[in-house]
Amino acid sequence: MGTVAQIKPAQMGLGQASPDFDGNATDLIKAVVARERLKSLMLRAWIGAGLFFMALPGTLMGFSNLLAISAHHGLSNLPASWIQGHGHAQVFGWIGSFVLGIGFYSQPARRGTVLRIPLTCFVLWTSGVATRWAANIYGWHWRSLFVVSASFEMIAILLFIAAASDHKLPEASQGGQTKPRMELWMVSVLLSTVGLLALVIFNLVECIRLAIDGTERAFPHGLDQRYLALLAWGFLVLVVWGFSARWLPTFLAIRKPDERLFRIALVFNLTGVGLGVSGWARPATILMAASAVAIVFALHLTDRHHGAAKVQGIHKSFPTFIRLAYAWLVTAGLMGIWAAFQDHHGGIWGASRHALTVGFAATMVFAIGPRILPHFAGIYSIFSKRLMFVSLLLLQTGCALRVLSEPLAYEGLLPFAWKTLPVSGMLELSAVLVFAINIALTFALGRSACAARYRTENAVVS
Ligand code: HEM
Repeated sequence: MGTVAQIKPAQMGLGQASPDFDGNATDLIKAVVARERLKSLMLRAWIGAGLFFMALPGTLMGFSNLLAISAHHGLSNLPASWIQGHGHAQVFGWIGSFVLGIGFYSQPARRGTVLRIPLTCFVLWTSGVATRWAANIYGWHWRSLFVVSASFEMIAILLFIAAASDHKLPEASQGGQTKPRMELWMVSVLLSTVGLLALVIFNLVECIRLAIDGTERAFPHGLDQRYLALLAWGFLVLVVWGFSARWLPTFLAIRKPDERLFRIALVFNLTGVGLGVSGWARPATILMAASAVAIVFALHLTDRHHGAAKVQGIHKSFPTFIRLAYAWLVTAGLMGIWAAFQDHHGGIWGASRHALTVGFAATMVFAIGPRILPHFAGIYSIFSKRLMFVSLLLLQTGCALRVLSEPLAYEGLLPFAWKTLPVSGMLELSAVLVFAINIALTFALGRSACAARYRTENAVVS
């Protein structure tokens, strides 16, 4: 990095015209540290909100739904609005908040964008998700609240996209002749953002329709299945693939993704999503399963690593859990095909969806989160590696029990499985709480890397 006095403002993300910079190296560093601190505080707010939605409106609600389903031996006694309230809190409230928080954090900050846009987006997004949950569960003025909540969420995503679209690839912004080539991980993250935009538009349109002439505060079953195809494979899966392609080669010491196979996986996935949203469940699930198999090979997850995996600061079981997550993705794909051909009572669909949301998406967040979130928030490392391992182990055990029991119980194949379902929910709830506590303690008690770096650099200057 050289001495601080040699650093140009542009290198630190501050233009010459920045109001924070008066040409003095110490002031420059102070301005950079202040800006980084703001970004890091904003990230903490997003992560805190995500953890809240995950633990209470998300998992606690999912757990109580599961208890009710197990007690009545079926889904029919549980209001669909409660199930959809849980799903919305998990995907929008938890994963969505994490994605937006990391997305804003990764954007280079310019004047006004450090706080104003992310804060507006944060208020709209979190109040939108909370309003939807309350309307789903309590039904109070649900027609208007559905529309208000969906509008807030859509505006938040449009703001996020507008802020991100300001960010040019480096060569292009410097007026270079050659058009910069977008890396595959960026393509996948970009497609997931398009998927998220399509999802919030879909949600808004259907909420308006429900508000005008709906009889209950939930999407009808057939429509919900199409919506879930977009939500799961058009958003969740693509965003995880993107971040996997970005980080796993370094973290797992494996080769960079095979571009051809990665593209094939994307084409299968997008075609599958298109068919799923159009109601062609059978061909859609076949393509989605094929895309899951293709991505495992594209990311070289079956190869031996060519060096030591980067597990500094996290539990050494990290590579195993990453591979298990992708095994769950393939399981979700295969069970999706089974569901499209054989499901009668929602048990196979439920198990397939759970393998994807919990086995794949949640495991990836529980594994990669402790590696990257402390770093982004300016903290040296996760509070406890052991808690990280415990949360992943509980999640895997709970998920395996749930995915095994759900088809057996719901489809009437083995009545004893109704007794194992609540146990699976208890294990998953514990996993979620351990993960949330570990991250919260990291943020509350972790040693600030930013302050330490500032102290060191200040010492260099003086
Ligand atoms: C960790 C503990 C969890 C429990 C106990 C749980 C429980 C449930 C239950 C009982 C259902 C009802 C339908 C069915 O039986 O499949 C359901 C549906 C669903 N869950 Fe979960 N879940 C959990 C985690 C998650 C996570 C982490 C996500 C997403 C990241 C998620 C997303 C969904 C979605 C999208 C639905 C379908 C909602 C709809 O029909 O619109 N769940 N969950």
